[in-house]
Amino acid sequence: MIGVDVNPIKVEMLGSGHAPVSEPSLNELIAEGRRAGRLHATMDLKLAVSQSEISFLCVGTPSLHNGSLDVSAVKRSCEEIGKALRSKKEFHWIVLRSTVLPGTAKSLAIPTIEAASGKRSDVDFAVCVNPEFMREGCGVADFLNPTVIVLGADDHAHLTPLRELYAESPGQIFETSLGVAEMVKYVCNAFHALKVTFANEIGTLCQQLDVDALAVMKVFMSDTRLNISRAYLTPGFAFGGSCLPKDVRALASSAKQLDLDLPLLRAIMPSNRAHLERAVEAVLATKCKKIGVVGLSFKSGTDDLRESPSVQLIKRLLGEGCQVQIWDEDVSLGRLVGFNRHFIEEEIPHIGVLLSTDLEEVVRRSEVLVVGAKALNEETILAMLRPDQFVIDLRSLGPVAQPPRKWPVTRCYRPSPPPDRRDGLTSGAITGEAVLHE
Ligand SMILES: NC(=O)c1ccc[n+]([C@@H]2O[C@H](COP(=O)([O-])OP(=O)(O)OC[C@H]3O[C@@H](n4cnc5c(N)ncnc54)[C@H](O)[C@@H]3O)[C@@H](O)[C@H]2O)c1
Repeated sequence: MIGVDVNPIKVEMLGSGHAPVSEPSLNELIAEGRRAGRLHATMDLKLAVSQSEISFLCVGTPSLHNGSLDVSAVKRSCEEIGKALRSKKEFHWIVLRSTVLPGTAKSLAIPTIEAASGKRSDVDFAVCVNPEFMREGCGVADFLNPTVIVLGADDHAHLTPLRELYAESPGQIFETSLGVAEMVKYVCNAFHALKVTFANEIGTLCQQLDVDALAVMKVFMSDTRLNISRAYLTPGFAFGGSCLPKDVRALASSAKQLDLDLPLLRAIMPSNRAHLERAVEAVLATKCKKIGVVGLSFKSGTDDLRESPSVQLIKRLLGEGCQVQIWDEDVSLGRLVGFNRHFIEEEIPHIGVLLSTDLEEVVRRSEVLVVGAKALNEETILAMLRPDQFVIDLRSLGPVAQPPRKWPVTRCYRPSPPPDRRDGLTSGAITGEAVLHE
C-alpha cells in the first residue's frame, strides 16, 4: 500500500506509522503495516503509480455553495494519474472510491486520464467504481465487516483484481455497471436521511398529539413485512387506493391544524401527483391521440378503483383531447361487481364507457399502449403490437435499453426525446430494459 496525499502532514504521519485521522483501531493497523514494511506514504503520485497496479481515488468531493458537487479534486488527481501513466507500460486500474454522481467515471475520469496519458481506456487502463459505505467512528469495523461491496465497471473483466482483493471479505459482492455503482451510494445516504427525517416528523406529530412516539415506532419497526422490508421500494407507478392517499392527507392536515411544519409528510401527495403527471407527459410527448390503457385498478390482484392512479391518468388524457380505450382483466372476466361497478357507473361513467372486453381490439386501435399495474404478461402484449406503436409501461421504471430492439417501445415515462424525434425512439421489450435514446 502506498498512500498518496497533497497534504504533507498526512503523508508525514502515515509515513511514520500514525493515523492521520482519529478512528478506533486505525492507529494500530497503520503502525503494524508500517512495521511490516507493507505501508508507505508519499506526495509523489508518479512514483506510487509506477510501483502499484491499482490506484484507489479517495479524494474529497464536497458541496459547492449552490449544493452541486465539487469534483475538482477528482479531476485533478485523474490528470496527475494520467500524466504518471505516460511512462508506465503495464496496465493500470483506477478505482473511484470517492462519492461521485452517475456519469463521473465515464464523462470525467476516463476522458481526463485519456487526455493526460495519451493512452486508451480498456486497452492501457481501466476505471472502476467501488463506493465506500463505512461510517466515521466505526470505519475500520465497517470496512472489515461490510454488508455489501459494490464493484462497478462497464467491462466486468476489469474487476478481476478487485474480486481478488475482496475475496476474503464477508460482504455480499455486487458486480454492476459504473452508473449503478456511483448511484447506489447516493441512494443509501438519501434513504438514511429520509429515515431520520421521517422518524423526526412522526415524533414531532406524536408529541403534539400526546402520543408516545417511541412506543409507536417500536410497533412500526416490528413489522418486517411491509415497514422495515423490501416492500414498496421498486420504482414504478404512483400509489393510489382507498387508504394511502386518504391517510397521508389526514396526517398532513393534522400537522397543519397543529401549526406544525412537517415538509416531508406534506410533500408525499404532491410528489405522487408529480409522478403521475410524468406519465401524462410521456403519453402526450408521443403526439399520438389514440391511447389504449391496459389495467385500471390501482394494484394487481385487486379491483379497487377508488383513487386509482390509472383512473387519474385517463382523466388527464381525456382532458387533453386523447381518445382512450381501456381493457381491464376484471372487466373482461365480468368480475367487476358491487362497489366498483357502482363506482364506475356513478362516479366515472365517462370512463366506464371506454372499457372494452376485447383486448386485441384495444391494442390494435392504439397508437400508444399504456400498461398499468394490472396487466398481462409481456409476451401476450408483444405478440399483438405493431412496429409503429408506442408502449409506456407504468409498472416498473426499468433501465434504459441499448439498441437494437424489436419494437418502438418505451417503459420509462419521461417525456424526452422530443415528439418530432420518433425515429430516435428505439424499441424495448416491455419488461426488458427500456427505452428512449438516440
Ligand atoms: N468520511 C467518510 O466516512 C466517508 C464515507 C463514505 C464515503 N466517503 C467519500 O469519500 C471521499 C473522501 O472523503 P473524506 O472524508 O476522506 O475526505 P477528506 O477531505 O477528509 O480527505 C480527502 C483527502 O484527499 C486529499 N487530496 C485532495 N486532492 C488530492 C490530490 N490531487 N492528490 C492526492 N490527494 C488529494 C486531501 O488532501 C485529503 O487528505 C468523499 O467523496 C466522501 O464523500 C467518505
